[in-house]
Amino acid sequence: MKKIQNLEVSKFRVENSLKDDYLEQMLKLDESNYSEDDKGTYSMCMDWYSVNNDIYIILLYDNKVVGYINFIALTKEAYQKFKTAQIRDTDLTSKDILPFVADKENYCLFMSIVIHPNFRNGDAVKILTKAWQYKLQQLEKKGVKIKSILADCVSEDGERYIKRLGFESVIATSHDSIIYEKSLRINSKSQTIERESCQNKEKPLL
Ligand SMILES: CC(C)(COP(=O)(O)OP(=O)(O)OC[C@H]1O[C@@H](n2cnc3c(N)ncnc32)[C@H](O)[C@@H]1OP(=O)(O)O)[C@@H](O)C(=O)NCCC(=O)NCCS
Repeated sequence: MKKIQNLEVSKFRVENSLKDDYLEQMLKLDESNYSEDDKGTYSMCMDWYSVNNDIYIILLYDNKVVGYINFIALTKEAYQKFKTAQIRDTDLTSKDILPFVADKENYCLFMSIVIHPNFRNGDAVKILTKAWQYKLQQLEKKGVKIKSILADCVSEDGERYIKRLGFESVIATSHDSIIYEKSLRINSKSQTIERESCQNKEKPLL
């Protein structure tokens, strides 16, 4: 597919509320970017969403979905199983998912990031990542402490992305991917995710 030239930054918009129409477009993105085993389904997504309706960050361009991040909180048990590669994202049900809870340590999973191929290698990933970081800051303002975050990297693009955020590899899985983890500085003034390549480690992302 051909990359769209001269994108207008003002036409990007980020939304957190899931509409049926958005979910349909997100599943289509999964369809063309993930293998059969890595794809989400409508019922799976709605099952997760029924527990926590704050798990999606959706990027639109000209009112069409061009990317999204799925970021969830797991039970401690599910987190541990995920970290040790005993379960993967498609095994997760509403029993494993939690709402973000204030005044407690939250164990999270950066479940998925996808950008439409026409919008890669440009501003889209930066806007989406910034929106995610903004969400972390908003959660923190509400007292939600994110203790640590896992990510299951199923592609080289995903690994490159997650390493830039300072995640470190934990274990290889039997489905040809690598689990990464990042601990956050929950006792400091703000929980920030930083780019590993930043010379000044205190500088927030982007
Ligand atoms: C992973 C994915 C979202 C990355 O998006 P991308 O547009 O390909 O990202 P690129 O690596 O080309 O980077 C584009 C720009 O964003 C920046 N960027 C990339 N990752 C970043 C990050 N984590 N934080 C901040 N900036 C980042 C890059 O530095 C680059 O900017 P530059 O051109 O000024 O150097 C995208 O490749 C994708 O959707 N892949 C298919 C689905 C997939 O594999 N998902 C991951 C599953 S684990």
